[in-house]
Amino acid sequence: MCVFGAQWGDEGKGKIIDSLAHDADVIVRYQGGSNAGHTVIVGEDKYVLHLIPSGILHKDKVNVIGSGVAIDPLTLLEEIAGLRERGVSVSHENLRIAANAHVIFTHHKRIDGLAERWRGSGRIGTTGRGIGPCYADKAARTGLRICDLLDPDRCRERLMAALAEKNALIENVHGEEPLSLDKELDCYGAVGDSLRPFVGDTGAEVRDAYAAGKHILFEGAQGLMLDLDHGTYPFVTSSSTGVGGVSSGAGFSPRHIERVIGIGKAYCTRVGEGPFPTELTDETGARIQKAGHEFGATTGRPRRAGWFDAVAVRYAFDLCGADGWVVTKLDILSGFETLRVGVAYEIDGETFERYPAHLPSLDGVQVTYEEFPGWQQDIAEVRSWEDLPENARNFVESLEKLVSCPVDLVSVGPDREAMLTRPR
Ligand code: IMP
Repeated sequence: MCVFGAQWGDEGKGKIIDSLAHDADVIVRYQGGSNAGHTVIVGEDKYVLHLIPSGILHKDKVNVIGSGVAIDPLTLLEEIAGLRERGVSVSHENLRIAANAHVIFTHHKRIDGLAERWRGSGRIGTTGRGIGPCYADKAARTGLRICDLLDPDRCRERLMAALAEKNALIENVHGEEPLSLDKELDCYGAVGDSLRPFVGDTGAEVRDAYAAGKHILFEGAQGLMLDLDHGTYPFVTSSSTGVGGVSSGAGFSPRHIERVIGIGKAYCTRVGEGPFPTELTDETGARIQKAGHEFGATTGRPRRAGWFDAVAVRYAFDLCGADGWVVTKLDILSGFETLRVGVAYEIDGETFERYPAHLPSLDGVQVTYEEFPGWQQDIAEVRSWEDLPENARNFVESLEKLVSCPVDLVSVGPDREAMLTRPR
């Protein structure tokens, strides 16, 4: 099964993946890096995971960081240490790291920041975690992989070559101090040994597990509208966030993905720059942002908030072939007199019910909305579909129709239990 975000990230995937991990044997991250922040609440405890799949919080699950993930080894070791400090067992048996995943170094993070400064008003609003520069090096075939970290001579040689090029850019284009190779080797030289026990051919391990009848859960990070190919380019991340990322990023045939589940909030948010057609810059947006605690799990930045965008979500589900979806944060919309949903875009006098992926930008987009009556009751304690207020049920049913995909589950709060099944 593959679970992916159908909006601009922050759809509440952490909680849903944590819940689906119960029935999985192997949980695999296939793209992104520590730009992600998956929040899972277990009783009184809150965990924010950036690289390690949420399955780590369950006993006897194998968690895989696939080759498509851009791994910051320092963040990863911190995350492992942090989990262990809190009594979560992390060993080579429950955490596997792809030997062929690319490594994020100091120079990637540095260049991420400098490139943003260079872009000026055209900045993307990246998380500053070095994601874009690392994937760029991967594509340029100059990157270092986890397997390179395990071999000190090779690591030195490749890092020296990389730094020669990056320092020229840092000094000559950006006018900043170059990085010291010795310092970088001190910093990254030892991490290989710490990671060694976890590292392997995770693609083969996942395929073997599948062949042995194990249940595999592929966990997407970010959201489809941030996909490098299909999102709101250039205001996107640098990986394939949809189901398309699974085969390359996990080394697993797309023919074997048996179920695809999209996650979408009952409204939309976006963090960073870029088009957001249903954005609300008024007090309604502020109210959603506050009620939904819409602040980035990784950067703490406030997220822009707006109404549910059926054009975008329909596109995401269509593109990924979603079999079902989970509506998250429905409880945040309680108390509104009227709710709105974006159902079509108008650009230069032309109406688009289908996301206009062929246009260079969404500049000047006007949104056509449908309105729905809200509900006044707090629904955070509701645990069955029948107990939802009628208007809440009608709203979910309308969303289902608008995006042409059946809802499987509705989430009404941050706890593991705050979830209800949509009956068929
Ligand atoms: P990058 O992935 O750090 O390069 O950032 C590119 C864009 O994706 C920026 O707009 C970020 O705010 C956004 N982004 C990256 N990761 C996440 C995420 O996990 N949730 C939401 N937005 C993200």
